[in-house]
Amino acid sequence: MKGVILAGGLGTRLYPLTHVTNKHLLPVYNRPMIFYPIQTLVKAGITQILIVTSGPHVGHFLGVLKNGTELGVRHLEYAYQEKPDGGIADALALAENFADGEPIAVILGDNTTDADISDAIRRHKEGAVIFLKEVPDPQRFGVPVFDAKDPSKIVKIEEKPKQPKSQYAVTGLYLYDPKVFDYVRQCDPQYAGRGELEITEVNNFYLDAGNLQWEELNGFWTDAGTFDSLSQANKYWGQKSQASHTPTQHARSASIVR
Ligand code: G1P
Repeated sequence: MKGVILAGGLGTRLYPLTHVTNKHLLPVYNRPMIFYPIQTLVKAGITQILIVTSGPHVGHFLGVLKNGTELGVRHLEYAYQEKPDGGIADALALAENFADGEPIAVILGDNTTDADISDAIRRHKEGAVIFLKEVPDPQRFGVPVFDAKDPSKIVKIEEKPKQPKSQYAVTGLYLYDPKVFDYVRQCDPQYAGRGELEITEVNNFYLDAGNLQWEELNGFWTDAGTFDSLSQANKYWGQKSQASHTPTQHARSASIVR
């Protein structure tokens, strides 16, 4: 399977930080944000990756990622989304040639997780798979509505509902078969009233066709596109990185600091 990272947009929710660079290159503890989704894919065995980006700072990606070799990427490609505010599904449309008829794993460039999605990738044959995570603030996300009679069944996904019908967020990790590009072509920019092609509409097309499966994401997950979530991501990855240091390493870095 190939991987696609969607790293476009203007990052307006992080102004003034994103006047300086692309949101996905901002630091999350000791690394640029986009390193995290890249590592999620590489850890799952995906080493052919397309990064779709847009906005005024696109050139910065090359300087940071180069050919991706240092991160374990075997083949790195870039695509340019003409409309930075075109939406996630609009960015995904640019991956059609790269996918070349194969299934793809898609991650939003501001999603950080330590979950291992290798099993889901191995099992995926057709249709779509979405990954859910229980969150305290589901109104910020795509939210699944479960069947009252059968709670394992999703009946629809609502984009940023004011009154969420479950406590789950649809995270920005998705597995799709090649049909995804036909669904993207059917998207309506007014679907969620913000003039963007929404990934939630794509997922609902799969759902209506009886071809959407879901899994709960194991491990830590957060997006990092707002000040609060960026700060939460920094805190988690900082603590995790410090906890993974041995006491000897701590002593050594402490002596360097002194
Ligand atoms: C996007 C999607 C939303 C999803 C979220 C995950 O939201 O539209 O369905 O739950 O990513 O990070 P946005 O980042 O555009 O607010």
